[in-house]
Amino acid sequence: MSNTSYDTYRENVAGRADVEDTPELVAYYKELDALKTGALWTVANKIEPWQPKSESVPVLWRYRDLRDHVLRSVELVTPEKAGRRVIYLNNPGRQDVSAAVGWLYSGLQVMHPGEAASAHAHSSSALRFIMEGSGAYTIVDGHKMTLNANDFVLTPNGTWHEHGVAAEGTTCIWQDGLDIPLVNAMEAGFYAVHPDLQQAVTHPVDDMPAIWGGKGLRPHEGNWSKPYSPLYKYEWAPTYEALARHSKVTDGSPFDGVLMHYVNPVTGGPVMPTIGASMQLLRPGEATKAHRHTGSFIYQVAKGSGYSVINGQRFDWTERDIFCVPSWAFHEHANASASDDAVLFCFNDLPVMHSLGLYREQALAENGGHQVVL
Ligand SMILES: [Fe+2]
Ligand SMILES: [Fe+2]
Repeated sequence: MSNTSYDTYRENVAGRADVEDTPELVAYYKELDALKTGALWTVANKIEPWQPKSESVPVLWRYRDLRDHVLRSVELVTPEKAGRRVIYLNNPGRQDVSAAVGWLYSGLQVMHPGEAASAHAHSSSALRFIMEGSGAYTIVDGHKMTLNANDFVLTPNGTWHEHGVAAEGTTCIWQDGLDIPLVNAMEAGFYAVHPDLQQAVTHPVDDMPAIWGGKGLRPHEGNWSKPYSPLYKYEWAPTYEALARHSKVTDGSPFDGVLMHYVNPVTGGPVMPTIGASMQLLRPGEATKAHRHTGSFIYQVAKGSGYSVINGQRFDWTERDIFCVPSWAFHEHANASASDDAVLFCFNDLPVMHSLGLYREQALAENGGHQVVL
């Protein structure tokens, strides 16, 4: 330890820490270490970077690479033993936590017809986006939702929830998205297994989407004060229809094409306090301009094919592929088809960024707003 250096993060910039190690200072730092303290100027430039420095790297997870491995887990473990049979997405830049990007977790879960996972509750907020199969369902606090491809369903913080596939269904695969790394970073995570292992369905099937899912309509008797959306399930067909109609009358955003946020119908705000979700449509041949912003984003290709350039790296994607955009990484998206639209589902931590006042955004000024592909 005699050659420990304390001046690794020096910056020769006015207002920044720039203290060179001397034998006297190093001895002093060691005395501070022994007292479980430290001199801020030895770490200040590291812990207060000029701009966000994500530990996460951009990643594309190709579904054609993952699908067989996900299906193999069915032969290897039972949902009873595994709790949840999930292959999680592991960002290679993150060895500290199981994160797909930033403070977001994601995984692919598979279930055979007739299987059901045990009911549980946790402090993390979760959503799932259905990738393939029929007969999938989720029960949230006694409300059962039936699910099809490109539907997504919420299982908010603290709710009893469980997933299964009807006996007459087919093998289902869906993407889970949770804020587990965030909740753990906040040291606020609780987990509970339902005392009966399954919960009773105490309401008519699909009642919450039926009550809360009217376009531009709010139920007269709808009292809801919980901090998440009562809609629970967001179906693909009306979402795609809304995007398609929207795209006929607007150019949308130069950075995102036609993008619509899923909302809590009571507040117009995000579906859950910590996780937001959106769906965006890129018209045939559309290529957006590059920007960057705070927040971590996980995309799944719901329809079509194209590519995204993330921090100068091009990722070609097709239906069901998943990719991530780390915080403050420049990104732009393009639809590779000249005839069909491309649609991207996305979930993110934007509600956290906005509610904590941490959201910032910047357009790429150079090169006509497009990144140079490395
Ligand atoms: Fe869960
Ligand atoms: Fe963006």
